[in-house]
Amino acid sequence: MDINHISVIAIDGPSASGKGTVAHRVSGSLGFHYLDSGKLYRLVALVATRAGVDLADEEVLADIAEHLNVIFKDKEIRLGNEDVSDIIRTETCGNGASRIAAYLQVRKALLSRQRAFRRNPGLVADGRDMGSVVFPDATLKIFLIASSETRAQRRYKQLMEKGVDVNITTILQDIRERDARDSGRSVSPLKQGSDTSSIDTTLLNITEVVNEVLRQYTEICAKNSDINEC
Ligand code: DC
Repeated sequence: MDINHISVIAIDGPSASGKGTVAHRVSGSLGFHYLDSGKLYRLVALVATRAGVDLADEEVLADIAEHLNVIFKDKEIRLGNEDVSDIIRTETCGNGASRIAAYLQVRKALLSRQRAFRRNPGLVADGRDMGSVVFPDATLKIFLIASSETRAQRRYKQLMEKGVDVNITTILQDIRERDARDSGRSVSPLKQGSDTSSIDTTLLNITEVVNEVLRQYTEICAKNSDINEC
C-alpha cells in the first residue's frame, strides 16, 4: 500500500502550547500512532551532552542523530537499556534540543526516522515542522498558538504539581528565548504555513482543543472519502 494514503494529523506550535497533550489525546481517540518529534531532538541533546560533545559541532551531532539507539515502547523511551523518559523532559534537555535543532544535518538525519512513524491506521505527529517539512502532504495541519504568558502559566502549574520549585519569571524568559530560537533559525523555522489551520488555545481547555482538531479531521474525511481509515 502507498503510505502516502495513510492519514497524518500534523500539530505544530511553540513550546508549552499544549500540542503534546492535544496530539496524544487525538491519537488515542482515533486509535492512531503518535510521534512526539521533540523527543528525538531532546535525545540527541542528551546523548551529546553526556558524551561531552560541543553543541555547536554539527557533524558530530548529526552522526549521533543518525545512530540513536532508541526504542519507543508505550510511554517508555529506552536509550539502549536505560529508560530516559523522565530525564529528557528537563529544561536542560529542552534547551539543548532547541540549540541543536538549528542544524540542517541534524534535521536531515532525523527525517526518515520520523517518517517511519507513518503506519496504519494513521499518525498524529507534533513538533515544529511536521506540516511544513516532515509530512508536507498531511491530511490535516494544525498550528496551535497561545500567548507566552499563558504558556508560562501552564508550565508553571505543571511543574508545581510535580513538586518542582520554579520561578514564573524564569519560565517566561525561557519560553521567550526558546520561541526566538525556534522561529528565528534559518532551517525549518517554527512558523505557520498558509495551508495550516490555527487554533488559539489561550482561552480554551485541552478537551475543547482536542474536540476542535477531531471536528476538523472528521470534516476533511467527509469531503475526501479516499483517505485511508477515515
Ligand atoms: O517540543 P519540545 O519542547 O519537546 O521540543 C524541544 C526542542 O526541539 C524545541 O525547542 C525545538 C526542537 N524541535 C524542532 O526543532 N523540531 C521539531 N519538530 C520538534 C522539536
